[in-house]
Amino acid sequence: MKKFPKNFWWGAATSGPQSEGRFHKKHANVFDYHYQIEPEKFYNQVGPDTASNFYNDYANDLALMSSIGMNSLRTSIQWSRLIDDLELNTVNKDAVSFYNNVIDTMLAKGLTPVMNLHHFDLPVELYDKYGGWESKKVVDLYVGFATKCFELFGDRVKYWTTHNEPMVVVEGEYLFQFHYPNVVDGKKAVQVAYNLNLASAKAIAAFKKLNLTDAQIGTVLNLTPTYAASDKPEDLEAARIAELWNNKMFLEPAIFGHFPAELEALLEKDQVIWETSAEEAEIIKNNTIDFLGVNYYHPNRVKAPDVAPDSVGEWMPDRYYDNFDMPGRRVNLDRGWEIYPEAIYDIALNIKENYGNIPWYVSENGMGVSNEERFKNADGVIQDDYRIDFLTEHLSYLHQGIEAGSNCFGYHMWTPIDCWSWLNAYKNRYGFISNNIHTQEKTIKKSGYWFKAVAERNGLED
Ligand code: BG6
Repeated sequence: MKKFPKNFWWGAATSGPQSEGRFHKKHANVFDYHYQIEPEKFYNQVGPDTASNFYNDYANDLALMSSIGMNSLRTSIQWSRLIDDLELNTVNKDAVSFYNNVIDTMLAKGLTPVMNLHHFDLPVELYDKYGGWESKKVVDLYVGFATKCFELFGDRVKYWTTHNEPMVVVEGEYLFQFHYPNVVDGKKAVQVAYNLNLASAKAIAAFKKLNLTDAQIGTVLNLTPTYAASDKPEDLEAARIAELWNNKMFLEPAIFGHFPAELEALLEKDQVIWETSAEEAEIIKNNTIDFLGVNYYHPNRVKAPDVAPDSVGEWMPDRYYDNFDMPGRRVNLDRGWEIYPEAIYDIALNIKENYGNIPWYVSENGMGVSNEERFKNADGVIQDDYRIDFLTEHLSYLHQGIEAGSNCFGYHMWTPIDCWSWLNAYKNRYGFISNNIHTQEKTIKKSGYWFKAVAERNGLED
């Protein structure tokens, strides 16, 4: 038996915009709005309006989660739901009672709440008015919203995270056009990355001021480790820059309180460096995280770029590296992502050796598969053995990392109940529990029963 540490978090993660549905929300977030104007961009034209109906069904959903052995759950509070007047930062009473009910039910069901404050879901009015995360005004409005969350729910929520995968905002919205507003602007992308880091530090400062008993605050990053295609110096150099841009740009301010000097020098040289100030640098320095959440799905393999880095055109970080599709790699073809569980061990050791062995947990890991109906048995239970295999392999490498001394305190799968996934909508399903999106009927999959056994034993059978 591979035993995990005492009080290990066995759970799963979702987010407000992907599970709640738009019911009774006063404001549209950027995805609500994008769906309104371009529904054809979303798989089968399914938008976020109903999602997995968590707004109406939370009591039943949380009971199901608890029944599969989960002892913790991360979700997020939607800014576009909680706040009535985005400038004056007044709260919406219905939203307060909804989140109070969710939190109280979680606690009653033995689910430790982990509350995230930003999961790509900026209220679209703040983009229209100020340019969203391009603006430091929006940073301060976000801190106001975060402060309201701490004040309203901090008596019961003891684990908070400031962002989920802020890099996805930078890349999806400002470089590679996979999220609204689909801007391509390297300089803005760099400023947005900085502002998201600043927002996290300022929210941590506000959190500390409140002196909440036994409460901790962290952030969730998609640490996708970089592997060079070969040991050739040019491939290693490509991997070094990819790592700086993709991982260290968020990891180092969060943990050390400053940006990597090599990254700053590169952005300076390319004349895209962010606007900052001594006062902001001080805020970032003094407000680092208590714990780290790591989302891991697939590795990032890179090689030296085919083009020269000084090629003419919009500044893009990937002028310094090209993706490398490793021949013979294992892939989840439905999502197009390589399966490489060994990376979890590398992440664990990297945190131990290079990041002060900060307490951390796997905040997302999982496998999105399409048309899972084809795997139903006669009793209507989806036989998702591929998911069980995927989790077993990843947990085994995580266990090895913990045995080697890495300070990991939990594992959350993405996601408890099949939920809405941005442009992919309901194409790929990730949950331990399936969701019939026409009837909202929820059914535990084989992996859900398997997870219950793992959580109860606090370990994996050898
Ligand atoms: C993570 C996000 O990037 O991966 C989730 O935090 C997302 O919001 C998940 O749903 C799975 O990715 P996708 O694109 O298949 O939904």
